[in-house]
Amino acid sequence: MEILTNVLVLIHLIGMAAIVGGWISLRVRGVESGRGLSVVVWGARFQILTGLALVGIHESQKDPLNHAKIGVKLAIALACAACAEMAAARARRGSGDSKLIDYAGVLGILNTAVAALWETSASS
Ligand code: HEM
Repeated sequence: MEILTNVLVLIHLIGMAAIVGGWISLRVRGVESGRGLSVVVWGARFQILTGLALVGIHESQKDPLNHAKIGVKLAIALACAACAEMAAARARRGSGDSKLIDYAGVLGILNTAVAALWETSASS
């Protein structure tokens, strides 16, 4: 089970890099659509899936999590994914919206800060 947890954490970290890195690459190139945007969209989708899987593993191992932190992370991740999906839908219709892409990138960074600065274990 430990190897599965470690692999999921690795995918979770790559998802985080995809959101933040994809957003920065779009901003540096000054574009509102293209491959960078799909990278952000898929990163945001994977964060929700791998995050929930990690919660399931922790709970199944009776390793209590800080539920307030998980709730905040889930809410931010859903908002991040919603912004990325709307930005991609608008880009497909030819009406790119750079604000939505920026919201997705900033929410990704915010969730990274929550992950790093707020204690994960419920016992502390
Ligand atoms: C934009 C979305 C997200 C980002 C950028 C993000 C970022 C991160 C990062 C950087 C870590 C590693 C932190 C550390 O080990 O100290 C982490 C761990 C974790 N995240 Fe997320 N996360 C996101 C969404 C979620 C969601 C939606 C959930 C669950 C509902 C979640 C649950 C967890 C859990 C349980 C861990 C701890 C893993 C472990 O140590 O076994 N994350 N996250």
